[in-house]
Amino acid sequence: MKRSIVIGCGSYLPRRVVTNNELAKSLDTDDDWIVSRTGIRQRHIADEGELTSDLALMAAQRALENAGILPSEVDILIVATTTPDQTFPATATKVQHQLGMMHGAAFDIQAVCSGFIYGLSVADNLIKGGQAQTVVLIGAETFSRILDWEDRSTCVLFGDGAGAIVLRAAENQDINKEESDTNLHTRRGVLSTHIHSDGATNNILYVDGGPSSTQMVGHVRMNGREVFRHAVNNLAGIVGEALDANRLNSEDIDWLVPHQANRRILDGTARKLGLPIEKVVVTVERHANTSAASVPLALDEAVRDGRIKTNDLVLLEAMGGGLTWGAGVIRW
Ligand code: ACO
Repeated sequence: MKRSIVIGCGSYLPRRVVTNNELAKSLDTDDDWIVSRTGIRQRHIADEGELTSDLALMAAQRALENAGILPSEVDILIVATTTPDQTFPATATKVQHQLGMMHGAAFDIQAVCSGFIYGLSVADNLIKGGQAQTVVLIGAETFSRILDWEDRSTCVLFGDGAGAIVLRAAENQDINKEESDTNLHTRRGVLSTHIHSDGATNNILYVDGGPSSTQMVGHVRMNGREVFRHAVNNLAGIVGEALDANRLNSEDIDWLVPHQANRRILDGTARKLGLPIEKVVVTVERHANTSAASVPLALDEAVRDGRIKTNDLVLLEAMGGGLTWGAGVIRW
């Protein structure tokens, strides 16, 4: 049986930073309200003409450079995004071409803020099943393009960005079950992924448009309180499921890298886990919620600044529209 090892990561943020005070110039809001409710102080916003594929390409190039491999070595390229450049073709195929990847396959995944975790699950299973040797997984969003900039209850929450990882197949030793169980706690790579959705909650977080319904792109609509309630419950559930599947306790976790939606949700999840906040990678104050990009952006930051080190046990989790939610456990 093969398994997937993370061999590199990278990220990219648009250069334009918009602070809460700047938003307050054209919107009935203020820095105090936004910081106290969400922890967000600023967000990066893509320039006019800067597309999701541009952000994704930068993140992928940096991840490949970090991994020390060439695009020609990649079999599969996945872009998790809710804000594709066009309805079709998949943004991933554009990135594939721009990277100079002449073979393999590229496709998008749409699970909103859980997209990167869904992508991790697909990538890991493609590698385990022997269909891919090397996968580039990108989370990339220009979420600013689907915001209603007159709706203060949503537009202050989101930002743009991209993050990527490179996964590569490694052979497991030919081991028996008992050894395999012991090994679970020491071997590097993706230990497990867990994904869920509940379409009955479509209407608490959605975009009011689309090619089949309105033929317009539409804007984000959200019942914030309901989303908050589901987030706390679903994330606690998925984190428990991921720990149980690996027979781990929360004390075993070196780093929690959560989806960066809201500081209060992050604090609540850490509290429920009994994990000190120092073990949680937090970027929401600077990046806001970048949807599918938020987990790989936070991962890349913590790897590059030396917090996440080889052999650390890293727990990823996210929840988003659908509702969708998921988690992944990686021995880095
Ligand atoms: N500035 C000032 N006032 C505001 C703003 C703003 N930006 N937005 C809303 N308000 C006002 C409302 O109009 C309302 O005023 P009213 O009482 O006069 O009607 C008041 O603030 C309270 O509004 P609520 O929506 O009840 O505020 P709440 O305390 O629930 O906070 C928030 C809103 C921050 C959105 C919260 O519900 C939340 O964090 N929900 C989770 C949503 C989330 O993170 N979504 C991201 C996508 S899903 C995901 O990624 C997990």
